[in-house]
Amino acid sequence: MDDGMQLSVLNDTFGMYYAAAQKALREKRGAQARRNYLLAAETLLKMAKLSSPQLKKARLERAKRLTEIAEGIDAAAPRFSAPSEEKESEREEGEAQWKAAAVPNVHFSDIAGLEDVKRAVTMRMIHPVKYPEKYAAYKKKTGGGLLLYGPPGTGKTMIARAIACEVGAVFYAVKGSDIVSKWVGESERNISSLFETAKQQKLAIIFIDEMDSLIGSRGEDVHNDRRVNEFLQQIDGFAGSCPNLLLLGATNRPWDIDSAALRSGRFSQRIYVPLPDAPARKFLFEKAIEGVPLASDVNVEELVSRSEGYSGADIAELCDRAKEGPLLESIRTDALVDIRREDFLRAFEEVKPTVSAAEVKMFERYAENGA
Ligand SMILES: Nc1ncnc2c1ncn2[C@@H]1O[C@H](COP(=O)(O)OP(=O)(O)O)[C@@H](O)[C@H]1O
Ligand SMILES: [Mg+2]
Repeated sequence: MDDGMQLSVLNDTFGMYYAAAQKALREKRGAQARRNYLLAAETLLKMAKLSSPQLKKARLERAKRLTEIAEGIDAAAPRFSAPSEEKESEREEGEAQWKAAAVPNVHFSDIAGLEDVKRAVTMRMIHPVKYPEKYAAYKKKTGGGLLLYGPPGTGKTMIARAIACEVGAVFYAVKGSDIVSKWVGESERNISSLFETAKQQKLAIIFIDEMDSLIGSRGEDVHNDRRVNEFLQQIDGFAGSCPNLLLLGATNRPWDIDSAALRSGRFSQRIYVPLPDAPARKFLFEKAIEGVPLASDVNVEELVSRSEGYSGADIAELCDRAKEGPLLESIRTDALVDIRREDFLRAFEEVKPTVSAAEVKMFERYAENGA
């Protein structure tokens, strides 16, 4: 039996023990609940041995939690209230599981560059709400799937937040890795309940950050394969039928995403979010120094040309570092001290670009061929 098969069998075994443990607990049969939790944990440990590093960690953690729960059950008089893992699994049953995230106060105007993304979102979500009759007249499709990909720190997460803010939609934000690690073995069910919940809203965005860890390429891990299948089914189910649901994904590793998810009708639009170009970097520097004490020897154009290859996040970090010296000095002297050119130069020494030229090449190649 290969690892995939073995994992699949183990997962069924796990499900059996876990369900039995929950049932026993509900019926206040403490000894049985305890034994089944321990068997479930033991099964997870076996599964962990066969798993990829990321899933291994998640499974080990969950096995530990289950063991703790088992040990906390008083065999003679099991608690009435469910232990914490139980609460989690009740959410797995689907009720009130997906809470909308608070809509953050970030606007398109706070974001450097990314004009393509802003335009695509305006076409698919902002205008349809403002001008429904025009969209009807042209039979123009709305909603759908949009995948943002690019190096880390380029503003993908930030723009997802800004979209929610601009559109005034109910915003469901999930991280692929969270779905996987919280609900190992049950994540397919959670994906479908997420879509169900979102579909009930008048206007909703599902934002899945770290898409790659949720729907990796199939054929390596049985859980991943099930998730991918469920995910594709959900996308196909909502495509066309839910004009008011926008599915937004972000990833730093587009090449790890199962290619079937990228076919048309699914993530029909994929947008490369590159490192900031010179105008975008200028915008970022100007934002960072707006209204703060600044010496006249600071030249923004110089900062822009020195920061080629820096991501938006790198620039934010760099400006923050540059402010540290003057800030400390101003505390010491109790007077405002300007940020000088030399503070920036020191920050450039300390903060180096996090994205290598080789990585940028990989993205560019992907953008040319894959997207
Ligand atoms: N295009 C951008 N415009 C404005 N700020 C940005 C931009 N890109 C990155 N940043 C800054 O970097 C931080 C991290 O960006 P984030 O959206 O988390 O990147 P990603 O999700 O692409 O890894 C943001 O909170 C912001 O301060
Ligand atoms: Mg991000």
